[in-house]
Formats: sequence, C-alpha cells, structure tokens
Amino acid sequence: MSDSLLPSSDESAKLYEQYVARNYASAAITLVRGEGTRVWDAQGKCYLDFASGIAVNALGHSHPVWVKRVAEQAAKLVHVSNLYRNEPQGRLAATLSRYCGAGRVLFCNSGAEANEALLKLARLHGKKKSGREGDCIGVVVAERAFHGRTFGGMSATPQEKIQSGFRPLLSGFTSAPLNDISAWDRAIHPQTTAAVLLETIQGEGGVFVAQPEFLKQLQALCRERNVLLFIDEIQCGIGRTGKFFAYEYAGIKPDAIAMAKGLGGGFPIGAIWMSPSCDELFQAGSHGTTFGGGALAASAALAVLEVVQSEQLVERVAKQSVAWHASLNQLAKKYPAIIREIRGVGYMVGVALNVDPLPVVAALREAGILTVPAGGVAIRLLPPLNASVAELDESVQILDHVLGQWKVA
Ligand SMILES: Cc1ncc(COP(=O)(O)O)c(C=O)c1O
Repeated sequence: MSDSLLPSSDESAKLYEQYVARNYASAAITLVRGEGTRVWDAQGKCYLDFASGIAVNALGHSHPVWVKRVAEQAAKLVHVSNLYRNEPQGRLAATLSRYCGAGRVLFCNSGAEANEALLKLARLHGKKKSGREGDCIGVVVAERAFHGRTFGGMSATPQEKIQSGFRPLLSGFTSAPLNDISAWDRAIHPQTTAAVLLETIQGEGGVFVAQPEFLKQLQALCRERNVLLFIDEIQCGIGRTGKFFAYEYAGIKPDAIAMAKGLGGGFPIGAIWMSPSCDELFQAGSHGTTFGGGALAASAALAVLEVVQSEQLVERVAKQSVAWHASLNQLAKKYPAIIREIRGVGYMVGVALNVDPLPVVAALREAGILTVPAGGVAIRLLPPLNASVAELDESVQILDHVLGQWKVA
C-alpha cells in the first residue's frame, strides 16, 4: 500500500468503529510512529511513552540493534515450526538459562500461554505426587492476581471482572492474601496442592509487591509440602525492577518462571523456564504450539537480551530509579488529597490514587505522557529500560503539572 493509501487517524477511527472487535476500550488516538521513549499519533502529536505497550517495549521503540537483528533474521529464515530445530531458539534458551540457572526453556507466544504451560506442569506434578490423575490439582494464587485471559489464566485470576460471564472455570484454584504467610500456610494442602502461582509484583492488580521475607517463607512451605513454586515474571521480569527477575531480591529459586512482554521487546513471545526436576515432567507430545520459539521471535528476544547486557540496562534501572522514586514521593507529599502512595520497584511504579485513575490517565495523555491504569486504584508508570534521567524527570514534571490543576471533588 502506498503512503497516500494508508488510513489517516480519522479513517482508523472509522475502521475500528466498523470492523475491529469491541473488547478493548482503546483511547481515541492512532499511534503511527515510535522512536526511543517517544511515540507520535496520526496528527503528529508526540507522547512520552511510559506505557511501553504495557511493559513490553523494553528497549523503547525502534532500537537500532533490535531492528537490525529482526530484519536480518526476517531476510534469512522466519518460521519452520518445532518439527525442526532453528538456530535462534537454541541460543535464546541457553542465554535465558544464564539468568535462571540450570534447566530448560519452553517457548510460546504470550504471557497467558506461558501460564497455561505452568498450569499443565502443575497437573503433571500433581499426578506424579499423588500417583493418580485428578487427585492433586490444587493451585494457590494471590488475591488480586492477574495471570491472563485464557481459561487457565482466568481461573488463576481471582477477580470478578475477569471471570464474570465465563464460568464454569477450571477447578482447583484457591486464593490467599499477598504477604500473609499464615493464610498461605492454611491454603497449601500437603496432599491436594500441586503448585503455587504468584506474581513477584502484581501489575494489573494495582502494583503490589510480594515482600522478600514472604517469598522466602513461601518457598520453604512449598519445599516442605512438595508443592511447585511458580513465579509469574511476565510483567516485572527482564530487568524492569533493577534485577533481571524481581524474585532475585528475595534470593529464592523458583521451580519454574513465566516470562513474556519485555522478552521480545515488542515481538510476541512467551516462555517458561523449568528447573531440572520440573522439566522432566514434559515429554515429547505433552505440550506444544506451532509458533512457539520461532526463529524471528527468538531473534527479537536475543536482540533484547544483547542490548540489556551491552547497555547494562538492569544496572541502569537500579541506579536511575532511586532519584525518580524520590521525586515521585515528593509529589505524593505535595498532593496528599490525590496521591495515596507510590508503590513498586525500579521502572515498575504504581502511583496509587485517592481518585479514579481513568480520568487522570486521560489528562496525562492529553498533557503528553502515556501511562496505564492498574486495578482501578493506581496509575502505572512503565518506562522502557533505556529511558534517560531527563525523561524520568520529564514524567514527574508532567504529573506535577496535571495534578496541580486537578480538582478533587
Ligand atoms: C503478570 C501477568 N501475567 C500474565 C499476563 C498475560 O499476558 P498476555 O497478555 O501476554 O497474555 C499479564 C498481562 O498483563 C501479566 O501482567
């Protein structure tokens, strides 16, 4: 299609209105271009992108190394299916194992799919543990958790707004309050619980951090009861918190880790890493997907990991987020009627509000910064890992400007 035939923003609006499914409440802007931490809409307006496609664009937009690697692979080999090996998949699994430890990696295409794989692993572990299929299928999750929109993901997401209309869901799920180890002690049954599934930092639920001490105690409980500890790092992983995985702050060793979002830097890819005892549960034929670990997706992920390493982005996030959090906490002091508190770690920040976050997100967008609402209670700030100090400062200035004009009812 020539440039002149590309739909303008107004045409996009019409096309969306008529042809695109209605399951998203998208903002009324059409984004057409991105570079670094900025995106432009069809009218030419520029935004500071602190949504990062919901924690996906780890390297911002159009990072030259990422573009080069993806283009090179696209010209060489895109897809062959898992009937055959491809080079990037093997290299990506090896690179991830350097971060996760000895074990194996299974690839898929999204976060929800990664969690589906974990849930299948839980069933296989439960069968082995109890000696019978169906006797040990329990999975304990956290209240306010979000693990995806597939049937498994929804079943593991104890939120009425997610589950409503889709019951009956998968059985076997129970939930316990985050950071309340006594409640988890009661919820994890030695005979019937197969696994625990937990986000290290809840994103969609409102940015709530699992405390390191809680994670250590939870790991001890799981080990004692032969229950697998699954950590969902789909949103908080791949450097976002100033560690490669957020669970590293607690010094725990999960049995399996789900990842997606930032892994591909914008290219759809998901994965689970499994410890050696876990990975032997999957044999040829137990699980699979046509596109999982395709050459192009794996190359995109390898490019992300290459740049994370070469630009020392994990270290940068850890260092640069300190002053940013301090400035955000100053804002919280300045606007106590609006800001309840600042939560989160590194570049995964929740500005918890005393007011409805949706109009604030809209006003921020109007003022030139993209952010994401979370859990009906907070605004998420999710800059790319290579956002500069000046861009972090700019985000605080825009927030200050917008909140300074906010009328509290
Ligand atoms: C922690 C967590 N798990 C799972 C998912 C589902 O990922 P996806 O939207 O790629 O299916 C998300 C998405 O927001 C998430 O934040």
